[in-house]
Amino acid sequence: MKKLFSLMSACLLTLGFASCSQSGATNEANNASEYANPTIQTIMERRSIRDFKQEPIAREQLDLIMECGINAPNGQNKQSWAVRVVDNPAVFDSIVNMTIAANPDVDPEMVRGCYRGAPVMVYIAREKSYDFSTIDCGLLSENICLAAQSLGIGSICLGSPIRMLQKVGGIADMLQLDENYELVLCIGLGYPNESPEAKPRDKSKVRYIEI
Ligand SMILES: Cc1cc2nc3c(=O)[nH]c(=O)nc-3n(C[C@H](O)[C@H](O)[C@H](O)COP(=O)(O)O)c2cc1C
Repeated sequence: MKKLFSLMSACLLTLGFASCSQSGATNEANNASEYANPTIQTIMERRSIRDFKQEPIAREQLDLIMECGINAPNGQNKQSWAVRVVDNPAVFDSIVNMTIAANPDVDPEMVRGCYRGAPVMVYIAREKSYDFSTIDCGLLSENICLAAQSLGIGSICLGSPIRMLQKVGGIADMLQLDENYELVLCIGLGYPNESPEAKPRDKSKVRYIEI
């Protein structure tokens, strides 16, 4: 009986992995039962969200997401990042208005639009003196996106606001960043108002090297 149970479990596990690798190959699967485990399901179902409900996210949820962020692997455990969470709409509006003022050549609607309407904005900065800090920030960012996804919260990594923010004189003070740090990425968070399909991935980028 025990043997039969082990055999059945092994079959189910194998089937689970087989279907997972298939869904990874095609990016077509959206059915929870096709994934081998909840971690893989979270990774495969995360997509960039560009349409958010205008609802706040509870601080407890944000704390948990940020805790996951700072538990990312990072060079020499230097934690060469600074994370600034803006969930207060008035503060966010000030940042947007400062950005508009510092970029008179850019249409104000474009400045606002590049944040994709996310109700919470996370600003990620790297420690300038550490050569791996951009990688540290990338790994932190992915942990944030995946933790959010696992809680039903959508995310979008945003590079486009960064260049405009670089022209904002008071941004370091506003975000309480000291001179050793520079912004590298924003992450918008919020409850999703859309569920976009996966964009195709090029599997030929991955090769097994065999002698
Ligand atoms: C470093 C980085 C910068 C990005 N900048 C932007 C951006 O400025 N605007 C935007 O709409 N999406 C941005 N994205 C999201 C990508 O377009 C998205 O991750 C990619 O198309 C793959 O789609 P997926 O996240 O849904 O799998 C950025 C993503 C990364 C990692």
